[in-house]
Amino acid sequence: MTLRLGVNIDHVATIRNARGGEHPEPVRAAVAAAEAGADGITAHLREDRRHIRDDDIARLKAELAIPLNLEMAATEEMLAVALKHRPHAACIVPEKREERTTEGGLDAHGHFDMLAPMVARLTDAGIRVSLFIEPAAQQLEAAMRLKAPVVEFHTGRYAHRSGAPQTEELSRIADAAALAAKNGIEPHAGHGLTYDNVVPIAAIPQIAELNIGHFLVGEAIFTGLADSIARMRALMDEARG
Ligand code: PXP
Repeated sequence: MTLRLGVNIDHVATIRNARGGEHPEPVRAAVAAAEAGADGITAHLREDRRHIRDDDIARLKAELAIPLNLEMAATEEMLAVALKHRPHAACIVPEKREERTTEGGLDAHGHFDMLAPMVARLTDAGIRVSLFIEPAAQQLEAAMRLKAPVVEFHTGRYAHRSGAPQTEELSRIADAAALAAKNGIEPHAGHGLTYDNVVPIAAIPQIAELNIGHFLVGEAIFTGLADSIARMRALMDEARG
């Protein structure tokens, strides 16, 4: 199975919004990412619209030839956005207004009753639902009961650790990926992945997709987006042997 790369373009919009104009244009970045080998584009429409805006989602949906994965909080407002634009996939993430980035996974177990109708409505609309969760059996069990076809494991803890604690977190992710696949759920992974830490995650055979954003956009400042994506792609392919 080839490992797909979803490129998250949120931080192209962060730079645009720093000046309030139209440059750099996230849709242009998405098209360039697709040309450079991205298998999909991910964008997180946050409640405070700090980076991606509603019109970006509309234009991404209209202009992209590759799948769009909308990251969204489990709110009625975001559900309405997803149902209006019908992205290929919707990844439900936890969202706190004050956080700098998505800290920790969604508590699919604790919020089961709130998530169940949301997952059902997205699924009924033909949108492939993914739940951004920690690599924990209890969360996976909730994802199964919610009938989510995909889970994305939060790799932030792995990315921010080193040595033995990082190895421990890696094996939690590998075990969770195996358990997900065994139960018919497609495992994805993302958050904090870089050239230096991507290979062990990419080598987990059940993982079907990685979603990577901040590092690729940052690295693009030095080498260009096409080069940063090509290099990440090469590391992922190498990891798969
Ligand atoms: N996957 C999900 C669900 C995310 O929320 C994010 C961050 O927006 C990413 C992947 C990408 O993380 P990063 O920008 O650190 O590569």
